[in-house]
Amino acid sequence: MQFTPHFLDEIRNRIPLVQLVGKRVNLSKRGSEFIGLCPFHNEKTPSFTINEDKGFFHCFGCGAHGDIIAFLMLDEGLTFPEAVERLSSEAGLEMPKETPEERNRQKEASSLFQINAFAQEWFTKQLMSPPAQSARSYLEQRGLNFEAIKTFGLGYSPNDRNSLSKELNTKGINDKILTNTGLLINTESDNKPYDRFRGRIIFPIKDIRGRVVGFGGRSLGKGMPKYLNSPETPIFQKGSLLYGLDLARKIARDLGQLVVVEGYMDVIALYQSGIKEVVAPLGTAITDNQLAQLWKIVDDPILCFDGDEAGHRAANRVVERALGQIQPGKSLRFIRLAQGEDPDSIVRLNGPDSFRSMMADAEPLSALIWRIVGGEQKLDTPEKLAAVSKKLDDMMKYLKDSDMRKIFRKYYRDRIFSLRSENTKIEASTTKNMITDTHAHNEKKTDSTSVPPRALALSAEAALARQRSLLQILLNYPVLAEEFHEELEKFPFSAPRFASLGDALLRSCQLSEIDTNEKKILDLNSIAGERLKEELIKSGLQELAVEVIKIGSIHFDGAAKEDTLEDANAIQKARIQIRHLLDLHYKLVNMEDFKREATEVLAADMTEENWEKLKATIDSMDEAPGTEDYIPEGPITNDGIKQ
Ligand code: UTP
Ligand code: MN
Repeated sequence: MQFTPHFLDEIRNRIPLVQLVGKRVNLSKRGSEFIGLCPFHNEKTPSFTINEDKGFFHCFGCGAHGDIIAFLMLDEGLTFPEAVERLSSEAGLEMPKETPEERNRQKEASSLFQINAFAQEWFTKQLMSPPAQSARSYLEQRGLNFEAIKTFGLGYSPNDRNSLSKELNTKGINDKILTNTGLLINTESDNKPYDRFRGRIIFPIKDIRGRVVGFGGRSLGKGMPKYLNSPETPIFQKGSLLYGLDLARKIARDLGQLVVVEGYMDVIALYQSGIKEVVAPLGTAITDNQLAQLWKIVDDPILCFDGDEAGHRAANRVVERALGQIQPGKSLRFIRLAQGEDPDSIVRLNGPDSFRSMMADAEPLSALIWRIVGGEQKLDTPEKLAAVSKKLDDMMKYLKDSDMRKIFRKYYRDRIFSLRSENTKIEASTTKNMITDTHAHNEKKTDSTSVPPRALALSAEAALARQRSLLQILLNYPVLAEEFHEELEKFPFSAPRFASLGDALLRSCQLSEIDTNEKKILDLNSIAGERLKEELIKSGLQELAVEVIKIGSIHFDGAAKEDTLEDANAIQKARIQIRHLLDLHYKLVNMEDFKREATEVLAADMTEENWEKLKATIDSMDEAPGTEDYIPEGPITNDGIKQ
């Protein structure tokens, strides 16, 4: 009975080794491993270790070594199928039945391996024959040495319609089977089938065990297509293969480093130059399966992309894919090449050290995401920060692992915070002037660099009053800062002191599950209040908070905490007020955009229709949700604080 590798992996994945061994051996944890007294030889001090990550046990005393199946075989003297059967029932897996179809499939697969092996041997022989002179000089001109050609098993397919198939026919392999391997192409018409690879350098493609599963063929010079690959067959599935993996796996694991390049030639050139921890997908975008294979070998494989637009898009796609699969401890790093460069050309022109240093400097996933969302530009306005923060949010949706989501969100929130406080420092010195300017010279034209933040431009005082109200409510009901944290993160406070309070509120958030039980919310609110107090003290904002609160009607004593029905209602009221304030803010910001657009359209084209459109926009500003009713009265200064 043959078990598929998939089935065996399923067993290994489902039953932790520690669980099985733990029944026989008293284990204790040491670092990332477990140790105990070896059950296979007599010892007094433990030298038997288990590495659950790798799924292996090893005894430093007697050398016993293996996976979960091997343990059972050694421990109970079972045969391989017996051990598998026992474990599969323990894992709740059904033993695969050996149906006639399954047996045929396996027979066919093993014959496909065999035929590929024959073909491979023949291709390499052809490379040494006289007609392959041009192929040999091509390889020489590309800088490949004999050693590398041998290691990768490169070959040559003569420029001839049937030379390979004729050869394989003499071994009793008929055209039908050859067609299944993809080595022979059947024509629609009655013409004789012909060899797929003709006049090409042959790159055998091997699976992780080093068996030839398919071929890539490169034209000599300019012939199209540049690379021709075997079609998908039962043993050749492009999405789950990585070129060079059979050679790279062990070295990569030992070094803890693995680089993924785009082409066959890149793999060979790096390998030849001494960078042997290298693989490539087969001309397709990286799949989930391939990512999982990479992560089995190293924690943060390095992906290398072209510097052009296509490379940029490919990197973006991988990021989305990776975010869906990423787990604590696993990530990716990226190398972005200059336009027109590939790893092959880099090591050939500048030597392996230059590529090694690019590997050392590879950009972490988190930094690449920051760049993708536009964090690289100068984020000197609340609007730009808000846009970046929105894009980050959209990105974070791809993250399936909730722990990772927390880690990433926290990381980006901190980055945005620090940029925001940098900006507010700059704004602080300009805000005062701007407000005076608007008042004194209403008609004064400002150029685009000195346009105040939009919230200010709408009506500086009303905007500040709104912001102050928002903070008043949140300082009293910090639990609501958790509930509204996503909108709060993007809220463009225009006064520096308000922004710093907003940040303090967000920093003290714990983003616990939102509870709908009002009484419980009150308890949570007192806890949140304590955290907020600490945060305010830590950042020296306590006085400011009290000041902000004093202006309004709400009294601040840390946070509203009396456990009374009245307070529960107050939370609900506060929630509604926050909603109003935010809606009003969005309304004004959006409407202002629409209004400006409509005005521009009208200015460019003075038609009745465009005039109606502008009027409709202005009218709708009054109809949109969010009213200004509850905004407290009272004079405020340029940073919103009563003096
Ligand atoms: P490149 O065109 O970057 O190949 O395609 P390369 O490896 O640098 O080729 P050289 O240096 O000109 O020989 C990258 C990979 O995309 C796939 C192949 O896997 C190739 O290695 N490819 C490319 C195809 O499958 N077909 C093509 O026509 C071109
Ligand atoms: Mn190339």
